[in-house]
Amino acid sequence: MSFIDTLPKAELHVHLEGTLEPDEMFRLAARNGLVLPWESTEALRAEYSFTGLEHFLRLYFEGCKVLCRREDFYDLTAAYLRRAASQGVRRAEMFFGPQSFLERGIPAAEQLGGITDAIADASTDLGIDGALIITAQRHRTEAAALELLEAVRSFQDSILGVGLGSAEAGNPPSKFTRYFAAARAQGYRLTCHAGEEGPPAYIREALDLCHVERIDHGYTAAQDPDLVSRLADEAIPLTMCPLSNLRLQVTDDLTTYPIVDFMKAGVVVTVNSDDPPYFGGYLNENYTALEQQLGLGAEKLTTLARNSFLASFADQGQIDQAL
Ligand code: ADE
Ligand code: ZN
Repeated sequence: MSFIDTLPKAELHVHLEGTLEPDEMFRLAARNGLVLPWESTEALRAEYSFTGLEHFLRLYFEGCKVLCRREDFYDLTAAYLRRAASQGVRRAEMFFGPQSFLERGIPAAEQLGGITDAIADASTDLGIDGALIITAQRHRTEAAALELLEAVRSFQDSILGVGLGSAEAGNPPSKFTRYFAAARAQGYRLTCHAGEEGPPAYIREALDLCHVERIDHGYTAAQDPDLVSRLADEAIPLTMCPLSNLRLQVTDDLTTYPIVDFMKAGVVVTVNSDDPPYFGGYLNENYTALEQQLGLGAEKLTTLARNSFLASFADQGQIDQAL
């Protein structure tokens, strides 16, 4: 076991639909009587060479089609939590975007029932603390995002927070101010993907107009030193995803990845996997990539792992216990 394997960690930025392994995609397709457009898992994996976020999202949404029934959502969540627990993850705040499934007529109860059953079982069996963050898809309208809040309203007790994902360019946070205001009024914790492909101005909008508590990615904040100081001063954490940023050509090279600069500036940065099979690694592979490409030693790796608990939406008592 490596040092990274033994570090207790939280994962704060992982999309459940993005944890679907190719062989599992084929298994679920067969279980649901569906034929995938690829002949084999090898043919599917050959598609995992992305020009950018939107290219990736086309494949990701195609993969979502094999998730149809309560047990599919259960199996997906259970498999991710097993893998995470085996990597030393003690808490996982997982994104899930119901709109892909609601539009295919799959009731929220089937989706969220399967996910929350798997979270409960993993807590009992593995001691991992799982929580759910519902994301709206920003390529859709704000009205659709508000409908999503209504569709999941009766499951509110099982939902920790609300976020925003999907195609960032041309879909700024300012398009979703009423959605975030409604979510806040309903008592959800708030987070938003911003600064993955979008400019630093999108990060500012997420803070100023949507009042989110965390920024998912935040990579492009590196272009704006005043914004970096603000993130540090206001203790707004970033949930960064190095292998995702590499595979989606957000960054050319992890040797220049700005995470150490952010740490030096006092930002609470965290490491996460985003969509692990698509980007070549779960959480520990992301830590290992930074260890190797940036030469991070035990002290910085420990700070990143500590940050993951500090940045989590867990109760203060739980955070204190984890630290
Ligand atoms: N949904 C799944 N992965 C995503 C990412 N990297 N950015 C935005 N939305 C996503
Ligand atoms: Zn993401």
